Amino acid sequence: MATQPSTKSNSRKTARSQGRASAKSSREQRSKRAQNVARKSASTESKRPRSSQKTLSDLLEHGLKDMYYAEKKIYRALPKMIRKADHPELKEALENHRAETESQIETLENVFELLGKRARGEKCEAIDGILEEGESLLEDFGDSVASDAAIIFSCQAVEHYEITRYGSLRAFAEELGLEEIRDHLDAILAQEKAADGTLNELAEGSINDAASEYDAEEESALS
Ligand SMILES: [Fe+2]
Ligand SMILES: [Fe+2]
Repeated sequence: MATQPSTKSNSRKTARSQGRASAKSSREQRSKRAQNVARKSASTESKRPRSSQKTLSDLLEHGLKDMYYAEKKIYRALPKMIRKADHPELKEALENHRAETESQIETLENVFELLGKRARGEKCEAIDGILEEGESLLEDFGDSVASDAAIIFSCQAVEHYEITRYGSLRAFAEELGLEEIRDHLDAILAQEKAADGTLNELAEGSINDAASEYDAEEESALS
């Protein structure tokens, strides 16, 4: 007959195992607390301003350099689009926006002056990529019925890029209390939004429709 362990020895074992469990859980809690403290101090450390650390002003300046580079490239890229554009209203819209782009370059120069910095562009791969894509679209579609639609397609990518960047930059200027700079950036932003709106109206008003005529003819020939 198997002997049952006594109740006394059972309770000693339970107490020992409870003791081990509670020691283990307090060790875990201590190590968790230590990890939390270490994490907190690391994050405080990383937020602490240091002379070598980049600031929001640096980001504003970086973005302005990007846009100064971008506007100059856009200004140089537009004539090719204008030459290829067929619809007179599209040609006119692009010519007007090229003139605005020229004035935006001057506005950015004023902004640099207000910051006490020399106007200087910084190579921006994002606008380079958008404009390169526009070039290759022009090669592929420039002599097709969808040529004007392709030009708007490319130009709207540029406008949306500009809108997102100027939107962020004007918010940085506002945050930094640079009201005059914010107003300049707001003025440019309004022009970019208006240019995008005009392109939208042209695309949806007539240009996409005209470009789709050939698709409709092909469809009816197939049926
Ligand atoms: Fe622009
Ligand atoms: Fe623009």
